[in-house]
Amino acid sequence: MDIEKIRFIKDFADMAYESYLMGWHERNGGNMSYRLKESEESAFSPLFDRDDPWQQLDVSVPGLAGDCFLVTGSGKYFRNVIKDPEDTLCIIRISEDGHSYRILWGLKNGGSPTSELASHLLNHEVKKRVTDGRYRIMYHGHPENVIALSFVLPCDEIGFTKRLHEMMPECRLTFPEGLGVVPELEAGSIELGQATSKKMEDYNAVIWTHHGLFVSGETFDETFGLFHTVEKASSILVKVLSMK
Ligand code: 13P
Ligand code: ZN
Repeated sequence: MDIEKIRFIKDFADMAYESYLMGWHERNGGNMSYRLKESEESAFSPLFDRDDPWQQLDVSVPGLAGDCFLVTGSGKYFRNVIKDPEDTLCIIRISEDGHSYRILWGLKNGGSPTSELASHLLNHEVKKRVTDGRYRIMYHGHPENVIALSFVLPCDEIGFTKRLHEMMPECRLTFPEGLGVVPELEAGSIELGQATSKKMEDYNAVIWTHHGLFVSGETFDETFGLFHTVEKASSILVKVLSMK
């Protein structure tokens, strides 16, 4: 089977490359995950060529029992995903008790899923529940204007949302519910995942203070578009503040 032709892997790799071109992924910065549809899982199960042991998760996600995810590997560069998905990505399955995962495919040269796996899974669990399974994508990057603003604006979602909503009409249409903001927390920590997933009950985009942006969506287009709109509004606000 030619993995380049598999739609969800192609869409995932295309978005990874386009996001890299936007400047949101220096080095191995950022990570992404996609929850497979049952039809995708059964159609592409011949791909599942790894027989790895179950590995304990740091978090418990019973709401994702049995689900499969396409996930970026830790330390992998977004710019390389399109060139070699099998080296940079993996497909994992969550165990029936929601306490562990195993790799079914990918990371052919070794490695493990993103260090932000706890964040991704906790957020998937929330979004799967609150959207009746519609949302399938979690995406994290390091957009420079969002990060810069998080050094200047108070860690307050009402204030952050108001300032960005004012920047262009698209913002109120793209994220009418506003933005979540979490304080500076250690990258890759369970605390960061838990704080973000609380916000995902109400928001689709959450600012990680002094670190980046974490968004969720139903499709790759929507997810990319949301991230792009937040970063574009942030870049306008940075310019406005600089001209004062
Ligand atoms: P990973 O390479 O482990 O995904 O980490 C990148 C990152 O952005 C951590 O927040
Ligand atoms: Zn990061």
